[in-house]
Amino acid sequence: MDAVGDVQRVLLLGGTSEIGLAVVRRLAGERKVAVVLAGRPTPRLDETAQELRGEGHAVEVVGFDGTDRASWAPAVESSFSGGDVDVAVVAFGALGDAERDWQDAAAAADLVTVNTTAPVALGVDVAARFRRQGHGAFVVLSSVAGERPRRSNFAYGATKAGLDAFFTGLREALRPEGIRVLVVRPGFVRTKMTEGLSAAPLAVDAAAVAEAAVTGLRGGRETVWVPGAMRYVMSILRHVPSAIFRRLPI
Ligand SMILES: NC(=O)c1ccc[n+]([C@@H]2O[C@H](COP(=O)([O-])OP(=O)(O)OC[C@H]3O[C@@H](n4cnc5c(N)ncnc54)[C@H](OP(=O)(O)O)[C@@H]3O)[C@@H](O)[C@H]2O)c1
Repeated sequence: MDAVGDVQRVLLLGGTSEIGLAVVRRLAGERKVAVVLAGRPTPRLDETAQELRGEGHAVEVVGFDGTDRASWAPAVESSFSGGDVDVAVVAFGALGDAERDWQDAAAAADLVTVNTTAPVALGVDVAARFRRQGHGAFVVLSSVAGERPRRSNFAYGATKAGLDAFFTGLREALRPEGIRVLVVRPGFVRTKMTEGLSAAPLAVDAAAVAEAAVTGLRGGRETVWVPGAMRYVMSILRHVPSAIFRRLPI
């Protein structure tokens, strides 16, 4: 079985994430697959499981909370107990409150825990499982926000920079064993996370992120930007002098 081309069992960490679900559906295509939906045990998670079952997929629900360290390792254990996982989509995360999160220590720490510490810890355990089963691929939702911290949302950006650096390094560590790590860096995506915010330039829908991620995974890419033009925008922004960068309306 080709872990990427003919996926049979997918783990979605962030079982209600609109982007994550779009990736899972795009990976499945017309086929019925097994999906492990891992997330906070909420009615929304159960409803999502029911929806996927209605589409013909076999769904298991596994509970964990990004703020509850004790829940992380058991969640990975349960996710692999029903069989091998071909692709793990790391999609949970919180946008936080940009002004609160640089002034309130507890809020700042919580954001780092949910967006960086938890995905890293879960990623370590999933990587160990992938190595044991001899195959597997990660799809990791990073963000352009991690590329260069902006005044408007640097706490969130910092959490994504940490996540991105870890999984970019993990890709190299796992490469000799044929385990793949695709880092996805979207710009503004219209999902419930960004509901009520005015869309930034080059905004896309979850389906566009899924399309780019799955095409990238199947094409052997290591990093994808969504939309693709973001790669060039960010490579320019990365080099803009600070005196100018701080005046940009971003
Ligand atoms: N939307 C964007 O513009 C955008 C851009 C770039 C990157 N991203 C990243 O893409 C990923 C998916 O975002 P999305 O747009 O699909 O947003 P979403 O639909 O709001 O999904 C966010 C997911 O994170 C989960 N989550 C939040 N706090 C959690 C916690 N403490 N423990 C466990 N799970 C938690 C949510 O679960 P609940 O249902 O329990 O809340 C939900 O499954 C995130 O990592 C986000 O940072 C988003």
